[in-house]
Order: sequence, then C-alpha cells, then structure tokens
Amino acid sequence: MAKWWKTDMNTKTIIYFILTVLAIYLVGQTISSDRGEPNSEFIPEMVHSIAYDAFAPNPNASDGKTLQFPPIGTIAIGFMPEYPDGELTRENAGTVLKNPFIMDNADLSRGADVYATFCQTCHGLNGDGDGPVTKRGVPPPPSLKTDKVRKMKDGDIYYLISHGIGNMPPYRSQVKRNDRWLVTHFIRTLK
Ligand code: HEC
Repeated sequence: MAKWWKTDMNTKTIIYFILTVLAIYLVGQTISSDRGEPNSEFIPEMVHSIAYDAFAPNPNASDGKTLQFPPIGTIAIGFMPEYPDGELTRENAGTVLKNPFIMDNADLSRGADVYATFCQTCHGLNGDGDGPVTKRGVPPPPSLKTDKVRKMKDGDIYYLISHGIGNMPPYRSQVKRNDRWLVTHFIRTLK
C-alpha cells in the first residue's frame, strides 16, 4: 500500500490546500482572543448609532454627560404638577384650585362627552342619580342638581372627581385635567 506522503498529488491540489489553510488561519485571526471583547464585525452597517447614546460620555457637554438635567425651575411639556405647591385637602381644594376655564368660553360639548363617558353610568343622563348601574344593584348617587352641589366650588368638585368620595371612585387617572374642569362646568348646566 502506498504511503500517504508518497501519494501523487498534482501542484494544483497542493495550492488549493495551502490556500484553504491560509483562509482558515486568516478568519481565525479576526476572532479576538480576549473573550471579554466583542469580535470583529462584518458589515456592521447601522448597528452603531452615530449619535451619542443617552448614558455615553460626551466630550461636548461641560459635565461630560450626554443626558443633561433639565434647567432648574422648568417643567417638561405634559408634566405639569397636578397641584400648586403646598398641601391640598378636601377642605381647602375649593379655595386653592381655580378652574382655568370660564363658563362662557368653556367647551361644554367636550364636558358633555366626558360626562357621558365617565359619569353618566352612575349619575344618569340628567344627573338625577339614576344611571344604568343603579338598576343593577349599585347604590344610586345623590342628584347633581341639589343646592349642595350648586354651592360647591369648582375646585371642590375637581378634587372630588380626582380623588373620589364614598362609593365614587377616583377618576384622576382616567380623566385628563382639563376634562375634569370642563365636566365640572358641564354638570352645572344639567337641567
Ligand atoms: C361608580 C359610580 C360613579 C361614577 C362613575 C361617578 N360618580 Fe360621582 N358619585 C357617586 C356616588 C356614589 C356619590 C356619592 C358619594 C358619597 O357622598 O358617599 C357621588 C358623588 C358625586 C358628587 C357630589 C354629590 C354630592 O351631593 O355630594 C359629584 C359632584 C359627582 N359625584 C360628580 C361626578 C362626576 C363629574 C363624575 C364623572 C367624572 C362622576 N361623579 C362619576 C358615584 C359615581
């Protein structure tokens, strides 16, 4: 039997063999020996953003950080605090909180929509406390057309909608701030 080193190989086969070994070696060279480091990337295209990442160091900023603190005393759009500074209670809400809308130019149709969506189920179409759920076992709320409600300040009602009272749940997470003020105007129009 012929020994393998005596096997007749033509030059072409030897060249192919050497090229293959070389290619494997070169690919091997691109793989980093440090396991903690990322390997070489082939056509990374848009993997890395040109912009600074939020938490990346940034030589352009005076404090070297990309993410900057908002200037002191500013409020981001849509993040207006719910209440002015100081403690707000059910008792002082009426004097502390002021309705930003005046009755004359308030969008009462928006108020009506809010009422129909969030209040009517309990308080009823006309605020008589006879909403559909009261016919299914929920204790009926009082009428919204009483002297008591008429005498309540807008801020009192706003607070009541926001925080709930008795069997009435709080609505501040469902009903937007402006909508709470508009529905306050709307319930005063119930006849
Ligand atoms: C789940 C039923 C329910 C929903 C929905 C509801 N309420 Fe009420 N509401 C009540 C009940 C019950 C009371 C009486 C609470 C108490 O005094 O114990 C009440 C009380 C009130 C009062 C005070 C009435 C008074 O005489 O003291 C106002 C004003 C009021 N609700 C407005 C609203 C508005 C505006 C909405 C919609 C944003 C709304 N409610 C949604 C059940 C509800």
